[in-house]
Amino acid sequence: MSQSSSFLDALKGKNVGRPPIWIMRQAGRYLPSYRDLRSKYSFLEMCHEPDLIAQVTLLPFQELDLDAAIIFSDILVIAEALGFKVEFHEGTGPQITPPITTIAQIENLPTPDIRSLLSYVARGIKQAKQQLNVPLIGFCGAPFTVASYLIEGGTSRDLKKTKQWMWKHPDSFHQLLEKITQCSIDYLLMQIEAGVQAIQIFDSWAHVHSPASFEAFSKPYLIKILAALKHTHIPTIVFSRGSFGFIDSLSSLAPSCLSVDWNGSLSGLRSSIPSSMALQGNLDPYVLYADIPTIQKQAGAILTSMQSDPAFIFNLGHGVLPDTPLDSVKALVETVKNREK
Ligand code: CP3
Repeated sequence: MSQSSSFLDALKGKNVGRPPIWIMRQAGRYLPSYRDLRSKYSFLEMCHEPDLIAQVTLLPFQELDLDAAIIFSDILVIAEALGFKVEFHEGTGPQITPPITTIAQIENLPTPDIRSLLSYVARGIKQAKQQLNVPLIGFCGAPFTVASYLIEGGTSRDLKKTKQWMWKHPDSFHQLLEKITQCSIDYLLMQIEAGVQAIQIFDSWAHVHSPASFEAFSKPYLIKILAALKHTHIPTIVFSRGSFGFIDSLSSLAPSCLSVDWNGSLSGLRSSIPSSMALQGNLDPYVLYADIPTIQKQAGAILTSMQSDPAFIFNLGHGVLPDTPLDSVKALVETVKNREK
């Protein structure tokens, strides 16, 4: 891809036009075309087949003029590579079996050959890239977030089992985090070699942490992943839910970009974040259930507050919800695209 990209420019703090926009979970169920495909294939079939990975990655571009694509996959393919059975059932979210309940299970985890087990993702990336004219983002889950799924066996309200494990068996928890970290590094380097132009790490469950547990159990592994990618010079985005609670800690990681949820103001954040570090976010996804003028007003307020910031990427504060009206997402993208600098 040789043409200019406002998204990559913003990641370097050098965007001179309107802000770029992409949307977390843009390749998902709010798209009728995604639901059509999903009626033919299971979610995991779609994750495992390079043709389908590429096809789904491109689906949002039939409807929306977005400035970046994200490879269609899931953070839980790492769980599969570690030997867990992963299933997705309608309405209940992911199920991981057997969940981790003993220290021995962690001690006995394999050291998987990620490049071979997840080679279908690299093939999907190569195929998607052939058809894209915007940058492609690769991703993984943060080790803490992936570990929480392995211990909970799925989605949970408050990560009770994970937090109990973390405080009762910290050495064992660190062993698990270390294992996931090594897999994630292999996985991200494979994605970069296959051609992704930016990386996002999703710490979607970081909001359950205290500052102390964030320092102990999330941060060291984010540092390791970022350090292992440094030589590639590929820009990095760290998404953390609950980010406003750990902002100094997150900014000390020095990723190219921090992606934040909607619990604080981006422009307020800018005063404590160096102008070279991009900020991504942070419209509350629930705003997209409002009428179009309200969506325009809420998005407009963020745009005004970040006016002329050369390192701002418009996104939601978390993924777009499955029953969001497509027309509302279209209105949001138009609002950002029509913005004069
Ligand atoms: O953003 C994109 O468009 C790229 C694809 C993507 C998916 N999952 C596809 C998906 C990405 C980046 C993810 C990341 C992911 N997966 C995270 C981190 C981001 C976040 O949202 O917090 C997490 C925690 C997961 C784990 C996961 N996968 C959950 C909790 C669920 C169930 C939620 C739901 O909507 O059902 C999934 C399933 C999933 N991942 C779907 C998609 C499109 C829906 C599956 C389906 O079609 O039934």
